[in-house]
Amino acid sequence: DASPFVDPFGRAISYLRVSVTDRCDLRCVYCMSEDMHFLPKRDLLTLEELDRVCTVFVERGVRKLRITGGEPLVRRDIMTLFRSLSRHLDSGALEELTLTTNGTQLARHAAELAACGVRRINVSLDTLDPAKFRSITRWGDLKRVMEGLDAAQAAGLKVKINAVALAGVNEDEIEGLMLWAHGRGMDLTLIEVMPLGEVEPSRVDQFLSLATVRGRLSERYTLDDLADRTGGPARYVRVAETGGKLGLITPLTHNFCESCNRVRLTCTGTLYMCLGQEDAADLRAPLRASEGNERLVAAIADAITRKPRGHDFVIERSRKAAVGRHMSVTGG
Ligand code: GTP
Ligand code: 5AD
Ligand code: SF4
Repeated sequence: DASPFVDPFGRAISYLRVSVTDRCDLRCVYCMSEDMHFLPKRDLLTLEELDRVCTVFVERGVRKLRITGGEPLVRRDIMTLFRSLSRHLDSGALEELTLTTNGTQLARHAAELAACGVRRINVSLDTLDPAKFRSITRWGDLKRVMEGLDAAQAAGLKVKINAVALAGVNEDEIEGLMLWAHGRGMDLTLIEVMPLGEVEPSRVDQFLSLATVRGRLSERYTLDDLADRTGGPARYVRVAETGGKLGLITPLTHNFCESCNRVRLTCTGTLYMCLGQEDAADLRAPLRASEGNERLVAAIADAITRKPRGHDFVIERSRKAAVGRHMSVTGG
C-alpha cells in the first residue's frame, strides 16, 4: 500500500525534515546554550539508514525533503546522502530536495548541491553587521557566509535568507536586510523566535512580533499578500518597491498548524510529530530490526496517528520553554 500517511486531523504528510547531525560550527544564542554537549557519533543513524527512512517516506507520499541539522554541511560525507537522494528527483517521486544551512560551508558544497538537483536553499542569517553576527552566533565569521552566498548564487541556486526577528538585536536592521536580500535576487523570510530549550538571554526580552514588523514596514513599502506557498509555514508578501518576496513565519502571532504537512526525523532516528510538542517515536529500532521495511513503515504509521493538532507556544516570563529540547535537535 503506497498511500500517503494522513494524521487524525486529515493532514497528509508531504514534507519530511531530516536533521543529519545535532552539531553546528556556530552557537546561535536563541538556538543552543553555550555549553551544548553533542551526541556521541555512534548514536547517529548512518547515511544509508537515513536514506532508507527518507525513501520509505517518499514512497508514501512525501514530496518535499529538507536536510537540516544542527548544521547539515558539517556531517561527514553528507554529499553522499544528497547524491543518493537525488534519484527520487530523477524518478519524479520527489518534487524538492533542499536544505537549511548557516552558509559557512556553502562555498565548498554549492556546486555539488546544484549537481544533485537542489534548486533552492535557505540560509540562516540575522544580521549584516560582522560584530553583531559574531555576538549572535557566539564566534561566527560573517565573511564566510558571504562567500558561501556568492558561491551558491554562482552555482545557480536560488537562495532564501531566514532571519529570526530579535527585539533590540536586529530589529533596526530588518529593512536593511530586506533591501540587501532583494537587491541580490534573494527572498527574505522573517521568523518569530520560538521557546525551544532554555537559552540566555531570555526570549521574553528578545521576542518581536512580526505583526509589529509588518506594520512598520508597511508605512514605507507596499506589501501585497501573495497566495503562493512553498509547502512550508511562511506566508508571503510581494514588496512593490523592491519586487522581492518577503516571507513571514508567525508561530506566535498567527498559528499555521491547521495546514501542517510535516514531521521531523532526528539524526538518531527519532521522529517528532510536531516542532512544539515532546511526543516522539523511535524509528531506529524498527529500522535495525530487519532488512525489510515492514516494521519501519508500521512504526511510522503508528506515530502519525499521534500527531498533535499543534503547538501551544507562548512567550511569557513565568513560563519555561514549551519543550525542553533545543531547536538544534530538529533543525527547526
Ligand atoms: P520553505 O521551503 O522555503 O518554505 O522552507 P521552510 O520554512 O519550510 O523551512 P526552513 O528550514 O527555512 O524553516 C524556517 C523556519 O520555520 C524555522 O525557524 C523553522 O523552525 C520554522 N518552521 C518550519 N516548520 C515549522 C513548523 O512546522 N512549525 C513551526 N512552529 N515552525 C516551523
Ligand atoms: N526560534 C525561531 N527560529 C529559530 N531558529 C533556530 N532557533 C530558533 C528559535 N528558537 C531558526 C534558525 C534557522 C531555522 C532553521 O531555525 O535561525 O533559520
Ligand atoms: Fe506542525 Fe507542530 Fe509546526 Fe504546528 S507547530 S505547524 S503542528 S510541526
